[in-house]
Amino acid sequence: MKEYIESLNWRYAAKKYDAAKKVSKEDLETLKQAVRLSVSSVGLQPYKVFVVESDEMRNKLKTAAGGNNQNIIADSSYLFVFANELNVNDTHVDKYISTISQVRDVAPEAVKGFSDYISGYLASLTEEQKNIWTAKQSYIALSTLINTAALLRIDATPMEGFDAQEFNKILGLDELGLNAAVIAAVGYRHEEDAMQHAVKVRKPLEELFVTV
Ligand SMILES: Cc1cc2nc3c(=O)[nH]c(=O)nc-3n(C[C@H](O)[C@H](O)[C@H](O)COP(=O)(O)O)c2cc1C
Repeated sequence: MKEYIESLNWRYAAKKYDAAKKVSKEDLETLKQAVRLSVSSVGLQPYKVFVVESDEMRNKLKTAAGGNNQNIIADSSYLFVFANELNVNDTHVDKYISTISQVRDVAPEAVKGFSDYISGYLASLTEEQKNIWTAKQSYIALSTLINTAALLRIDATPMEGFDAQEFNKILGLDELGLNAAVIAAVGYRHEEDAMQHAVKVRKPLEELFVTV
């Protein structure tokens, strides 16, 4: 546990990456496994995660990011794009239920109550509410990525400073019923990144927590 808190203190949202240092394929796999294991409401995982590696795609996306985020995208090793499902519906639920039934070797009827529950919940939401809900789930996966990277002593920068519509266009997300909700660069901090020396600013425990 001590190691985990140390990792969270070690990490910061890197502002300048060392393009000469690249995250290994092995570490990339660990990051992907962690994101895969991330929690989501009812376990639906209503998102896809794009891992941008090619310079060609990186350069295209860079232009749709704001200010210094362009440098972050250029010099980091990989860019993760968390894309939430739009207008999630019973097709997604059916696929999920069929996966549960296969993986756990149970008849689909045995999970019908759960399936109905999810469908009922989705039916109670407007399209906009559903899109907000799926975006929230992708942010949880983002958090898993950031914290796992810290344990591996890999730097990461979560970013909202980008043009989602442009990202959707460049990555072809519109056609897939997806939307770029949030992105994160992973790589290694540059020794000249002054932010690595900044003292972490967080609310004190007494202010953050209310015990009732
Ligand atoms: C959802 C989200 C969006 C963020 N967007 C950006 C961004 O666009 N550019 C950036 O440099 N940092 C971005 N950050 C980093 C935060 O500013 C940073 O995490 C926060 O100030 C706390 O500092 P620390 O992470 O260095 O401890 C974002 C963080 C989160 C969680």
